[in-house]
Amino acid sequence: METARRADKMKLGTLIHPTGNHVASWLHPASQIDAGTNFRHYVRLAQTVERAKFDVLFLADALAVREGNREALSRWPQYMAYFEPITLLSAIAPLTTHLGLAATATTSYHEPYNVARAFASLDHISGGRAGWNVVTSANIAEAYNFGREAHYEHGERYDRAAEFTEVVKGLWDSWDDDAFVRDRASGRYWIPDKLHELNHKGEHFSVRGPLNVARPPQGHPVIFQAGSSEVGRELAARFAEAVFTPQHTLEGAQAFYQDLKGRMAKYGRSPEHLKVLPGLNPVVGRTEAEAQEKHQFLQSLIHPEVGLELLSNALGGFDLAGYDLDGPLPEAVESWKAQGSTTSFRNVLNWARTENMTIRQLYQRYAGARGQRTLIGTAKQVADHMQDWFLNYGVDGFLIQAAYLPGGLDDFVELVVPELQARGLFRTEYEGTTLRENLGLPRPISRYAK
Ligand SMILES: Cc1cc2nc3c(=O)[nH]c(=O)nc-3n(C[C@H](O)[C@H](O)[C@H](O)COP(=O)(O)O)c2cc1C
Repeated sequence: METARRADKMKLGTLIHPTGNHVASWLHPASQIDAGTNFRHYVRLAQTVERAKFDVLFLADALAVREGNREALSRWPQYMAYFEPITLLSAIAPLTTHLGLAATATTSYHEPYNVARAFASLDHISGGRAGWNVVTSANIAEAYNFGREAHYEHGERYDRAAEFTEVVKGLWDSWDDDAFVRDRASGRYWIPDKLHELNHKGEHFSVRGPLNVARPPQGHPVIFQAGSSEVGRELAARFAEAVFTPQHTLEGAQAFYQDLKGRMAKYGRSPEHLKVLPGLNPVVGRTEAEAQEKHQFLQSLIHPEVGLELLSNALGGFDLAGYDLDGPLPEAVESWKAQGSTTSFRNVLNWARTENMTIRQLYQRYAGARGQRTLIGTAKQVADHMQDWFLNYGVDGFLIQAAYLPGGLDDFVELVVPELQARGLFRTEYEGTTLRENLGLPRPISRYAK
């Protein structure tokens, strides 16, 4: 099964959507139904994964409610009532000690100065545990809240993302690490030579700087990235230190892993400085039958209109209304240009064509893990799969996206984590106190360091 024993250990993160990752999670009688506005719920989840020694808790985000068929959306509360993620993580920070705290901030509808400042602040507040997920916005409706009538086109938004990230990193270096001497005796608070103006003038942004926050404890908060298209991979190779990606087969994951790490050399980066963390929806039972039963129960709760809406979103807005649920995906999808995520578009099309799946089967597969991989079984079976992917260099770890919360995550933490630890695949104690230390990433040296 394995080629060689890896010296490093698996990294684990969790992505939290309020009631869980499954579209029908809010209908599960044991999910936290008011989760989107229940702060204690998030604290409980953060403390659960910190007890289990997870690297990071990650919050996805959108700057708009979802567009579409309101009849269907009213049965699916995703992104309808959400806390602003950096506010939420800042509140969780003092109630945790080692857990990394990462959030999405889109480069399409923010300004780099604001993003640099918010994540630098979170890094200080949390003592070096902040992470920023650089995205280009999957939700095309965000445009309407920021003075535009249409979302930026895919290539243009990635162009903007690259310049945006460069500016943010530059702003984080505004102050040398030792700029603030705070010396009452000499009456000097900071050293003038240790303050730097960025003076960036580019195609999309003009930012003088400097940032009005001291250099973050981690130097730079950890940079995450979650786009898997060609340009998405290039952006990741250039900047990302951890990457979220939907991967469904070991061969596909290995190809992605090698491709991404292989692109890093031209940016002068070492492959170990980027961790590939595909999404995983584990449905764990004490027996395989119990796990299957848990999964089928949630699947049975999917309203067909929600299923169609979900699939239409994954296909970049292609309207599936009126098509036979038990028939194939219409031919017209092939020529549809996905406006949102091209990665989910490709994955759905691929399942439809290679596995002859019907529309109903497609949305059912997509529903559980929102396009990520679902593993159903006992702790041993789930750990076996994770081990196989890890030891065979398909991944550096996983982003756990539990189907419903808190129960699905509790199951993973109680049943699978001890199994991974017993096999020596996952830590039993944190290596350090910062997210970088735990992920095994170097602290960036300032661009102005002599
Ligand atoms: C695990 C994961 C989390 C993501 N989180 C977000 C998010 O919070 N906000 C968002 O707009 N896009 C999110 N995305 C979407 C991607 O970042 C990206 O914007 C989209 O997939 C389009 O890029 P691509 O065509 O390069 O894949 C996420 C994707 C993955 C796999």
